[in-house]
Amino acid sequence: MRFPESDTLTAAFAMRAGLPRRLFGVAELERIQAVADLDEKLTISDFRQADPRVLAAIDVLITGWDCPWIGAAELAAMPRLRAVVHAAGTVRDHLGPDVWARGITVTTAADANAVPVAEYTLAAILLAGKGVPELARGYAADPGCAAADRPDIGNYRRTVGILGASRVGRRVIDLLGPFDFTVLLHDPYVAGDDPVRARATTVSLDELLRRSSVVSVHAPLLAETTGLLGDRQFDLMSPGSVLINTARGAIVDQDALVRAVRAKGVRAVLDVTVPEPLPAGHPLRGLPGVILTPHVAGSLGNELHRLGESAVSELELLAAGRPPRSPVRWESRATMA
Ligand SMILES: NC(=O)c1ccc[n+]([C@@H]2O[C@H](COP(=O)([O-])OP(=O)(O)OC[C@H]3O[C@@H](n4cnc5c(N)ncnc54)[C@H](O)[C@@H]3O)[C@@H](O)[C@H]2O)c1
Repeated sequence: MRFPESDTLTAAFAMRAGLPRRLFGVAELERIQAVADLDEKLTISDFRQADPRVLAAIDVLITGWDCPWIGAAELAAMPRLRAVVHAAGTVRDHLGPDVWARGITVTTAADANAVPVAEYTLAAILLAGKGVPELARGYAADPGCAAADRPDIGNYRRTVGILGASRVGRRVIDLLGPFDFTVLLHDPYVAGDDPVRARATTVSLDELLRRSSVVSVHAPLLAETTGLLGDRQFDLMSPGSVLINTARGAIVDQDALVRAVRAKGVRAVLDVTVPEPLPAGHPLRGLPGVILTPHVAGSLGNELHRLGESAVSELELLAAGRPPRSPVRWESRATMA
């Protein structure tokens, strides 16, 4: 949906309290106010508590993490709403089908959020390939130990398997370009003429698991990807190979992973788990060969400004009557994060 040039837009933030000032600096707020009326002190964190007159005037919602659910009742309170500009990745947690049914334009900052996830993944691939986690642990336990001459260590001619040609997956494939890696890709939705095929060899999931010494998960969590990596799949991975998961914890059968780590020395770098955080005493905690991080691969700290910048750019495009760069279409939701 486009905005006629004569319109004065009214925009409002809907997200976790305090988040707008971490997403938008002075310059971004000025850019928003150049194209829309915005009360920058107002953040809607509960539509039921919001002033009905304020809701009735909103043309554009700028949403972020913890935005409350927007379904039929909320839409009825916002009859002018024509666009939801999301300053984060997935919109699954706050937008219901009624939003698309009403023809409201939805945009996402998922491309901006993919940047730090891909950076984290590249770092994990390189450090795991070099054996850094194990060498650091050994050095801490025995300061006199030298790095043993282990032929299994190093990043020369390693095969890296990417599961999912998602925004993050594609960016990881690009980042791997300058290194001495063979890159494999598994994704049932990659078209025959997709340019990603020039940068990674597409294979079946089984072949990817058999051939890769690093497997990095970048698929969305869908019914078909829930528990995708279980005992049978870990059996295909070679001893000492590394599983990196920055996607969603439920894609991996964690009990099967624990068995694979114990039985054949599969290693893992997990930014996501089920549940989050993992309770104290969970078998994955403290398991040698497993590194856990608390869901930090996505935007954090100063990276939030990249999300804010992305959302402001989308708002400017919409206000100028131009199509957004990253629309979220209802029909693509079946395969998207
Ligand atoms: N750890 C974090 O902080 C963090 C941050 C951002 C995203 N994520 C996660 O990273 C993953 C990728 O996010 P995104 O925004 O790049 O996703 P995306 O929406 O761009 O991914 C969609 C693509 O995934 C691929 N896909 C769909 N089903 C697949 C399947 N069965 N097997 C393989 N590939 C399949 C298809 O190519 C589809 O086009 C998601 O799981 C997301 O939740 C995590």
